[in-house]
Amino acid sequence: MSVNEVYPIIWIDDHVRLIDQNRLPETYTLVDIRYVHDMAEAIRTMIVRGAPAIGVAAAYGMYLGARDIQTTDPATFLQQLEAIAQLLRGTRPTAVNLFWAVARMLKTAHETPGSVPTRKLALLEAAKVINTEDIQTCKAIGDHGLNALLNYSSPLRILTHCNAGALATAGYGTSLGVVRSVWRAGRLAMVYADETRPRFQGAKLTTWECIQEGIPVTLITDSMAAHCMQRGLIDVVIVGADRIAANGDTANKIGTYGLALVAKAHDIPFYVAAPLSTIDFNLVDGSQIPIEERQASEVYQLGSITLCPQGVKFYNPAFDVTPAPLITGIITEYGVYQPDGLKSLSGQQK
Ligand code: MRU
Repeated sequence: MSVNEVYPIIWIDDHVRLIDQNRLPETYTLVDIRYVHDMAEAIRTMIVRGAPAIGVAAAYGMYLGARDIQTTDPATFLQQLEAIAQLLRGTRPTAVNLFWAVARMLKTAHETPGSVPTRKLALLEAAKVINTEDIQTCKAIGDHGLNALLNYSSPLRILTHCNAGALATAGYGTSLGVVRSVWRAGRLAMVYADETRPRFQGAKLTTWECIQEGIPVTLITDSMAAHCMQRGLIDVVIVGADRIAANGDTANKIGTYGLALVAKAHDIPFYVAAPLSTIDFNLVDGSQIPIEERQASEVYQLGSITLCPQGVKFYNPAFDVTPAPLITGIITEYGVYQPDGLKSLSGQQK
């Protein structure tokens, strides 16, 4: 691995190795995962996070679970695999890549003819393909994003939210992948990273990735984004996505909707960068997207410090939905689409 290539999920011999994203940027710690229960826990506790990365992790989780099934009867094997799929589906509700990857793995298990060992092998191969494809997909998103952004005068000052970088995918990133491509093309002046309360993925992960590669990065608190736009510091906003409905409504990290509204008010283009695996063609619009609510301590606890008095109530939705009319374009591996043009891609989804 060169210093600027970050791969948060890799398969080594007989197990998965994850970068522990809860420990960055203080320590670069690797965690080896050998059992599906440990993978489910890693997704739930956000050792691995970011929609595409969750999908890849779940695909390997399906294999790890399948590997431990003790039967030679294909029908029993498929039945027990469904329980493993259920375990993984129960980890996080919003990122549709999780459900997409689990469904793709189940399809492989069902459609591979022959013995249980043959099906297990096919599952490992399928997980590796999902892993490799995701990196290629992100690079294609980067290329299409760069082309789209060349329409604006550069060097560009780009605002991003949360972490939709290499860490949130199998490598390279979606919105941060576009930033990377713009940077490598010599057209980036600055990336402004929102800190992204309450879990600080922007402060901890996006800035870490930028520093690894020498990408100029300025960290701001979430509440500074509107001011930065008003002061003319931002040319374009690019964010990732956890689930995009068929009409283009987009669920992403909490705070994204507010950014889109402010960008609209200042006539600043607002792009979403995401692979096809993040589009949920079954959902007509964003009102049907399940929004994960996480534990209250994420809101009131900062390390060992409690931020408020006893007796306060809490609300901690992890994502919000940006309505399609606020989105300038959705950058996919197939090109840049208007939100209402996404439906034309439904036949391409694997
Ligand atoms: O809660 P997280 O950290 O999993 O949320 C991540 C995001 O919201 C990302 O922006 C999104 O998954 C896109 S990742 C390429």
